[in-house]
Amino acid sequence: RPGPQEAKPLAGRRVLVTSGPTHEPIDPVRYIANRSSGRQGHAIATAAAQAGAAVTLVSGPVSLPDPTGVDVVHVETAREMLSAVEAALPADIAIFAAAVADWRPEVEAAAKKIKKDGSGPAPLALAENPDILATIAKRSEGRPSLVVGFAAETDSVLDHARAKIARKGCDLIVANDVSAEGGVMGGAENTVHLISRDGSVESWPRAAKEEVARRLVARFAELAEG
Ligand code: CTP
Ligand code: CA
Repeated sequence: RPGPQEAKPLAGRRVLVTSGPTHEPIDPVRYIANRSSGRQGHAIATAAAQAGAAVTLVSGPVSLPDPTGVDVVHVETAREMLSAVEAALPADIAIFAAAVADWRPEVEAAAKKIKKDGSGPAPLALAENPDILATIAKRSEGRPSLVVGFAAETDSVLDHARAKIARKGCDLIVANDVSAEGGVMGGAENTVHLISRDGSVESWPRAAKEEVARRLVARFAELAEG
């Protein structure tokens, strides 16, 4: 049987997790979003709480229940997610599993539903959203000691992930292949690759998202320790 130390490797630690998509409203009924069920991020929050951490989960709109034993903050847009993340700090470990919408409509959402008027769609100008992971990873003060990003890619998974870890300033990237063949999006299982700052890669066997979450949390606890 595992002793208390092994069972609760994150006792006394504060962990922040982002999960789910963000929705960027066009009007009261339409929005721009990324595809994300939130299953992997929510499973990580659950696993971190089970490992003894005080967990804040900042979640975009998902159809999952709030994990038990976790402080959940519900947000809709990327800008709300950034504010909620900043309000939830300080944390020892921050895990950015959300599929944040890269762009939002440039103009504020219309208060009334935009009607089709027969002349075709109005052009939709976009503005870039803040990069939440990069904002936190590049903080000079109050940076969590371990900052983990995710990278969902459809091609050249490892090359893209290596470029991202450098660009965003995080300590680790968890990359997965979300091309249609994999069935990862919304599915129950995930195949992940861990990319470190030195470019080294560790590929894990395909497993249930809950099992992947437990293994990831065990690894994060080791890395935060060292
Ligand atoms: N991320 C974030 N804020 C954003 C965009 C991304 O916090 N505005 C985080 C994600 O939660 C993830 C990591 O950055 O941990 C990588 O996200 P990804 O979408 O793969 O990277 P991008 O830099 O947006 O590049 P692209 O979508 O062009 O591949
Ligand atoms: Ca993106």
